[in-house]
This record gives sequence, structure tokens and C-alpha cells, in this order.
Amino acid sequence: MERENFGNRFGVLVAMAGSAIGLGNLWRFPYLVGSYGGAAFVFVYIFCVLLCLPIFMSEVVVGRRSHANAYGAFKVLAPGTRWKWLGAVSVVTPIIVVSYYSVVGGWSVEYFFKAATLEFTSGATQAGMSTMFGRFISSVWSPIIGHTIFLLLTAGIIIAGVKSGIEKFGKIMMPLLFVLIIFIAVRAATLPGAGEGLRYLFKPDFSKIDASVCAAALGQAFFSLSLGVGTILTYGSYVSKNENIIASSTWTATADFLFALLASCAIMPAVFAFGLNPQEGPGLVFETLPFIFANMPLGWLVAILFFLALIVAALTSSISLYEVGVAYLVEEKGLSRRGASVLVFAIAWILGILCSLSFGPLADFHILGQTVFNLFDKVSANVLMPVGGLLLVIFVGWVMKKHDVIDEMTNGGTLSGNRRTSQVIYFLIRYICPLAVVAVFLTALIF
Ligand code: PFF
Repeated sequence: MERENFGNRFGVLVAMAGSAIGLGNLWRFPYLVGSYGGAAFVFVYIFCVLLCLPIFMSEVVVGRRSHANAYGAFKVLAPGTRWKWLGAVSVVTPIIVVSYYSVVGGWSVEYFFKAATLEFTSGATQAGMSTMFGRFISSVWSPIIGHTIFLLLTAGIIIAGVKSGIEKFGKIMMPLLFVLIIFIAVRAATLPGAGEGLRYLFKPDFSKIDASVCAAALGQAFFSLSLGVGTILTYGSYVSKNENIIASSTWTATADFLFALLASCAIMPAVFAFGLNPQEGPGLVFETLPFIFANMPLGWLVAILFFLALIVAALTSSISLYEVGVAYLVEEKGLSRRGASVLVFAIAWILGILCSLSFGPLADFHILGQTVFNLFDKVSANVLMPVGGLLLVIFVGWVMKKHDVIDEMTNGGTLSGNRRTSQVIYFLIRYICPLAVVAVFLTALIF
């Protein structure tokens, strides 16, 4: 069967940026900035993104070189070795991630409807919004319905295919997403008292930097760049041979970082303008923001646009997670694309229901001391992603032949502008990235 490729450079970029930009930027990054000291966190995060960039390129190299799914790639590049187990983990992890990701995607769907039906009305209190959110996520049916709608939307795009589903959706939605977030950021930055929030974001207090800040920033960089779980590898396998891997990876990471900053510019100035606490944690987007929307001029419109942006951003990421399992089932198990999509849907739907119920009826059901949702979130973001990324970069730096890696980054030497850079990147991949990742996590464990 003919394997699909992304159509052109813009298509590659929107697909990869679509995977990277998601709930991680709009929901996770701003609350981490708030919890870990504002600009100091942003400052450390920049270094972490730079550190993760060669890892991102490594995933694209493995994908494009092997021209195969996350499991098959290791069979092609290191036949008969145990590396295929890394491939197996890379297929299972994204299914775990998509199941809980889709639950939060479902919350966004619900909040979009709440915004569209003007439920965030003026006079609302922050405590009232927290109660509303608490009641909603601990109920049985509404979050499950949201999760189902979100997962069905994801499956629909996947069934349409790589070019007419993933790429087309990204081409329309990614530019829209940037327009939405810029509009919201401008609205927030012009609120009276917003300057304080901008200072919080851009004027670092270096005394706040410690091991926990570094570990959180590195974990976030992995999460935000979709690393270590086979998604960038799978997308890399759809990148045609004449694309410039170094350039498209760098553009993707830049867009992802800019979007996270824009999202923070949309949120922090508003938090400060209303005299609220930036250290609200995961509730920031669903509890604090609706309160702000309810009380600011044009807030109803901003609310609708914000939750629309959240759904779109989450969808372009969830399709990348979903595609890993589908590509595996089609290429390794011979299923049709539709059949594979239905199977992945069934697994992610059931796991997602367990995640969703873990805020309500299953709140007391603990595995390793964690609810199902927290377990999935923690194990994937703190263990599977960094370890997967680390092993992958070791694979590219120490198992693949240097010649092959350079060959991929320079398109067989034809991209003369990349010759020197690729040598530097190879050095980073071989020595600096693995050591730095291990160092940050060991430091975080020890201190
Ligand atoms: N990068 C996405 C975000 O920031 O929301 C999340 C994600 C997508 C993580 C795909 C991992 C992944 F494979």
C-alpha cells in the first residue's frame, strides 16, 4: 500500500506545530509559570526548549529514515535487537495520553458550550466558579459526554487520512489559533492593571530558580514538544525526503514557545488586573479565567473565543497521539485505517471514562496511591516521556550510524547550509542531551 506523505512544507509545519501546541500551552504552561515563580520559570524553560530541540530532530530523523510507524521504525533501523521494545512502549504511551487528554478536551467542549450560552455571567464570584468546576468534573455523565464528543472529533479527522485529515485540519486551524490567542492577549494586556502581570512574566527573579523549577520546566518542554511518545517520530515518517528537518523542527519549537508565551500574556495580565492569585495550579483555566471573563468588558466574547481556541489546540494535538496507534495497527497488523481508528477509539474511550470517573465515583479507587487520571498524567509526563525521549536520543546518538543521521539532516549533503549545524546537533544528541536530561532528573530526585 502507498504510504501517505504530508503535501508540502507548510503542511509539515502545521501538523508538527499542531501536535506541539495544545493544552500544554494554554492550560499547563500558564499554571506552571504561576506556580514556579513567573519569569524565572520562563527563563529556565527557554534553555529546556533548546535542550529538547535536538531530541525533537532525532525523532524526525528516526521517522523519516525508517519511513515506518513508531514500532516498525526500530525493526527497520535496528533489526533483531531489543530496541523494538522502545517502539512498543512508544505505541502504548500515546494511547494512554490521549485517553486522559481527551477528558480535559471534553472539559473544554463543556466550557465552550457554557461560554456560548452565556453561563459566565457578571457578578459571578471566584468561589462560585470553583464550585461549578468541582461539581462538573465530579459528575458522571457530562464529562463523559464531553470526552466522547472530543474523541469522536479526533477519530473523524484521523479517518479522513494524513493529507486530507491531519494536514488539512492543521492548515485551517493553526492560523486561526494564532489569530484567536493574539486577540485575547491584546484584550488582556489592555486591561487596567495588566502591567503587573506582564512584569511577572518578563522580569525574572533569579533567586526563584531551584531544582524543582528546572525539573518542572524540562518536563513541560517534553510535554509541550510532544516528545518521547512516538508522535513526532510518526509524523516524521510522513515528511518527504526533500524537506529540511533542522529548519522545520526549529520553526515548530519556536512556534510552540511563542504560543505558550502568548497564552501566558492572555492569562497573567488578567489574573493580576483582578488581583487574583497566579499560583492557582491546574484550576487556573477552568476556575479563575471564567471568573475573569464574567467580570471584564467584552468578557463573554473572549470566553467563547478562548474555549474555542482550547478545543482547536487540543484537537490538533490529540490527532497526533491517536495517529501513532493507527499507523501501527495499519502497518504492522494489516488493519484498514477505519478499523484501526475504531479500535484505538474503543481503548481510549474506555480508559478515558475511567479517568473521567476518577474525579467522582472512582475518586477513592487508587493505584500506587493515585487516582486513574493522576496516575496516567504523572506516569506519562514524568516517567514515560522523559525516559522515552532519553532512550530515543541515545538510539540516534549511539546506535544509528553517524553518517545516516547527518545524511538525514543534510538530505544526503544537498542542503549545504546544514552541513556544519548538523555536526553540532549530532554532538548535542550524542553527549549533551542525554547527560543533561539525566542530570536534571537526578537533581530533582535528590533535592
Ligand atoms: N504537546 C501537546 C500539548 O502541549 O498539549 C501534548 C502532547 C501531544 C504530548 C502529543 C505528547 C504527544 F505525543
